Amino acid sequence: MPHEVNEIINRMRETVVGFGEYGIRFRDREGEVKAFLGRVLAASRVGFIYGPFGAGKSTFLKTLASAMQNTGDVIFVYYDYNVPIVQESMPEVMVYAPVDIKRVVIEALRSIQLASPFVSVNLGEVLKVMLGVLSREGLRDVEGVVFVFDEYDRYLKSKAGDPNFRDLDYVAGALAQAIEHADVRRIIFKELADRRLYFLFPISDQTALRIAMRLGGKGLTMPYLLWNLPRQAFREVVNEVAELTGAKNVNVDLLWNLLGGNVRELEVLVVDYNWDYRRWLQEEVIERKIIRTLEEYERAGRFSSIGKVLESLVDKGRAAAGDYGLGEFMGQPDAVEGDYGFLENNIMINLTGAEHLSELPTEPWIGKRYAYQIPAYYWVLRAMIRKGINVKPEDVLEEINESGGN
Ligand SMILES: Nc1ncnc2c1ncn2[C@@H]1O[C@H](COP(=O)(O)OP(=O)(O)OP(=O)(O)O)[C@@H](O)[C@H]1O
Ligand SMILES: [Mg+2]
Repeated sequence: MPHEVNEIINRMRETVVGFGEYGIRFRDREGEVKAFLGRVLAASRVGFIYGPFGAGKSTFLKTLASAMQNTGDVIFVYYDYNVPIVQESMPEVMVYAPVDIKRVVIEALRSIQLASPFVSVNLGEVLKVMLGVLSREGLRDVEGVVFVFDEYDRYLKSKAGDPNFRDLDYVAGALAQAIEHADVRRIIFKELADRRLYFLFPISDQTALRIAMRLGGKGLTMPYLLWNLPRQAFREVVNEVAELTGAKNVNVDLLWNLLGGNVRELEVLVVDYNWDYRRWLQEEVIERKIIRTLEEYERAGRFSSIGKVLESLVDKGRAAAGDYGLGEFMGQPDAVEGDYGFLENNIMINLTGAEHLSELPTEPWIGKRYAYQIPAYYWVLRAMIRKGINVKPEDVLEEINESGGN
């Protein structure tokens, strides 16, 4: 494990990250850095980093890579498969290493990219080239190389054409194949005597689950969970953004109960909705997320209306809450269990089977096995369970108030 953990964390603290057109300070993540350095970088491995949509996976990895780039212990090679970039040209590759090493690595990797621009990542070739680089003089101190393939599942999905979630089987299959490739297995797990190679794929939980199912039990892969920011760090972000935008009287506790530390969704609220959380609740949460998901389920199933879907959800939830001893059913994540398309549509997330990099807050929207990605989804569903399908933002806010959450 690289030595200067605190130094690395301090350097991350000084980083400015994007927020709309603004820059804000990178917050928190000490626990994640320690878990990452101690547990993820403990053995050669393929890791899948998942978490709520916009929780900060990419930002965490880039900021860490950047903070470690002059230690010379670990080289980060970061492929960005961001769909618009890849459609135009090749995936962007960023190498985080001291300048002299960086030059050598980029030079070597360039040859592969030119040879096979658009095919799925040829991990075997990338690995052979990296082994060649590592065996050169002057790179004796490098302990390991971390490859990050960001947005790779979205890229595969876009190639498959239909953005429908069923393509996840295709995506998981392609990824699993690349990892299982004989060359890759041999190099990662046999050929490296004293150095380590890590492959990290920040992906959606649905892809992660399917890959785990395909490769499960072989010890090759591990899903890691990164959560939204904790309450205190989120408070700091909100205050900083309020100052930057000149917003007055921002109710930080209410925002915690709506966003649960998700900075991407805060960005949507501030930039697209100018802090108008009622309109954000109506358009983004009630209409675009919950109603749309129930409608999709209605069409796919045997239901005559979304009201019937909700009824069915409540019946199922009551039974599950009873079975698990959760008390009265109020939308508890462990009673809803991601059913009704809630997992596929990023309303909920599965917490089991993964190593948790982040500590999860103790809140009603986070269960033991499942959680809502942001609390607003939980409160909307709770209001619907009480009042029926036609809830308004006021009903949702009332729900939060009555539970003492504000
Ligand atoms: N630790 C942090 N402190 C402050 N802001 C952060 C932090 N982490 C992420 N952000 C901000 O939150 C937003 C979302 O982050 P990011 O794009 O890294 O999320 P993600 O999990 O990779 O999203 P996706 O699920 O779309 O891949 C960005 O605007 C980023 O700058
Ligand atoms: Mg990302």
